[in-house]
Amino acid sequence: MASYQSVLSRFRSARYITAAVAAVFVVSTLYYIQIPAGHPPSDRFSSWNDPPRPWQRPITPSSPVWDARAAQVKQAYLHAYEGYLKYAEGYDELRPLSNTGINNFNGWNVTMYDSLDTMLLMDLHDEFSAALPIISKGNFRKIKNYKFPGATKLYVPFFETVIRYLGGLLAAHALSGEQLLLDKADELGTLLEPAFNTYKGFPVFAIDTNSTELAGGISGILAEIASCQLEWTYLAHTTGSKKHFRYGNQVIQSLVETMIERQGGMFPTNWNLQNGRPGGRDTLSVGAAADSAHEYLLKQYLMTGQKDTANLEMYLLSTNEMLTRLMYVTPNRQMLYITDTNGPKHMPSHVFEHLSCFFPGLLALGAHTLPLNLSIIDPSGLNPDAQRAYRLLENYDLRELHMAAAEGLATSCWLMYADMPTGLGPEIANMEPKSRPWIDVLEEWRRGGMRGPIPGLAATTPMPYTKPEQSKATSKPWDYVVRRTDYFLRPETLESIYIMWRVTGDPVWRERGWGIFQAIEKHTKTPSGYASLRSVVRVPAVQQDEQPSYFLAETLKYLYLLFIDEDPVPLDQWVFNTEAHPFPIFEWSNYEKFKFDIPSSRVRN
Ligand SMILES: *[C@@H]1O[C@H](CO)[C@@H](O)[C@H](O)[C@H]1NC(C)=O
Ligand SMILES: *[C@@H]1O[C@H](CO)[C@@H](O)[C@H](O)[C@H]1NC(C)=O
Ligand SMILES: *[C@@H]1O[C@H](CO)[C@@H](O)[C@H](O)[C@H]1NC(C)=O
Repeated sequence: MASYQSVLSRFRSARYITAAVAAVFVVSTLYYIQIPAGHPPSDRFSSWNDPPRPWQRPITPSSPVWDARAAQVKQAYLHAYEGYLKYAEGYDELRPLSNTGINNFNGWNVTMYDSLDTMLLMDLHDEFSAALPIISKGNFRKIKNYKFPGATKLYVPFFETVIRYLGGLLAAHALSGEQLLLDKADELGTLLEPAFNTYKGFPVFAIDTNSTELAGGISGILAEIASCQLEWTYLAHTTGSKKHFRYGNQVIQSLVETMIERQGGMFPTNWNLQNGRPGGRDTLSVGAAADSAHEYLLKQYLMTGQKDTANLEMYLLSTNEMLTRLMYVTPNRQMLYITDTNGPKHMPSHVFEHLSCFFPGLLALGAHTLPLNLSIIDPSGLNPDAQRAYRLLENYDLRELHMAAAEGLATSCWLMYADMPTGLGPEIANMEPKSRPWIDVLEEWRRGGMRGPIPGLAATTPMPYTKPEQSKATSKPWDYVVRRTDYFLRPETLESIYIMWRVTGDPVWRERGWGIFQAIEKHTKTPSGYASLRSVVRVPAVQQDEQPSYFLAETLKYLYLLFIDEDPVPLDQWVFNTEAHPFPIFEWSNYEKFKFDIPSSRVRN
């Protein structure tokens, strides 16, 4: 994107950036200019399928068994949504044990907004049509819930509001063409925009949409400050508004500036909004507090027609560090997992979070849609750690390696479900600390002549987890101890299973997803909806009085898309936001028309 070059020239004159590092970004821009523009996404996709990779097998033909399973997921959605309408209409979420409603996301009916596109994908047009008159009267200045202890006023949490409401409206508009939904998205986006009024244009935690008063202090969490670019760029694209464009774009530019200062690697989880830089505890993670920021690097590049190379480079530099620093293989079962590190010495915690289970799907998506070649980056400008990661990984076919990591991680995420007495995965596990870094195992394999399959993919058989809850004792023979036993009806594992199915065509992923759906039906269903569980390691499961909106927006949507044969939102034509709301991929020419109008000064209202 041309605007990055102006960022680079500002940096060079500021003299705290070396020319070599700036060259990383310039060189890559030149590299990509050689790629002819204007191919429709499907052309670009099929040219990279040649020759086919081992993971690109044909999708099996339509079958009545899977049609019937998809129909069951649709019934599950109707059960959850009808329970919501019956007992919690006008509230955000249903409490499926007490049959009451709760306002926990602004009191704007989040379950309805969040699942409009699920209704459309499932052909539930009556439910969708019934929602429109309510949305047309909805007032986004009127905040009903009281979420933040200690606050004397009501505020809207920026991140959650963006991914659930704004993302929900935009995707439902994209699928239905309903103008009302775009008008409301435009209105909501405008009301939220004062939140970007910080030094580098990263959004603050919360805002009063009526008074524009901001809340949440000066610290920012990576996932919350850097997971809005897709929504703002798509909003700008659809409305044609340059004003919307510059907010999303400013976030991207500020990330680029930070990446240049850091000279490679991942963004840490804690930031200071006053100076727009990482600050506080030095934690690297792909789980809580970080997840979707990494997701949006790749997805922004894909959504804008693969021309915005800055996002691709940040994705490659980040995944280089994840692959060489955060991934481990357990000693007994050879389970591949991804953990986080703390402190300047990057000590691994060996914690494996359910939230991290979106990551195999992301890796598979990148490997499926892109050539993934490190040659677009000039390693000489990288910091020593990033240079080491680069030198290690340049010996591999990066696409094959990302796909192997995806397969190993997605399998581990599924095993955490399949091992449990309930068949549902825990929120957090402590993995065996004697696990080895995956890169060390890979290097042994490479030096031994790369004989046999890529290591780290051996664990495929469930091992019934019969350990007492919360045991601190040895992790043998499972190679982990369940640390947090809850199951919050989360989507991440099913999201990755869905992407693995679409990318590989291997029916094992569908069968695994079907097993999880059956466990959801068995243990979480209530007379009015579906309930989170307190523990996945005990049967009968103990339910909790909550039905999160993302269960309808994401979990059931990915299950449905996994079981239907036709694909209404193919991965080479749509990108899903971090709440599973699909936005269509569009061509750079539409995006480019905005770039000359971006003010070079900081965003300040
Ligand atoms: C939520 O639903 C209630 C009841 O239908 C309605 O009065 C209210 O305006 C809705 N709010 C929004 C923001 O859609
Ligand atoms: C918004 O603020 C104005 C001015 O303070 C006030 O009159 C109005 O009632 C507020 N609206 C809502 C929905 O709170
Ligand atoms: C990566 O790109 C370079 C330069 O274009 C090329 O020589 C190399 O073969 C590519 N590697 C792979 C694995 O495609």
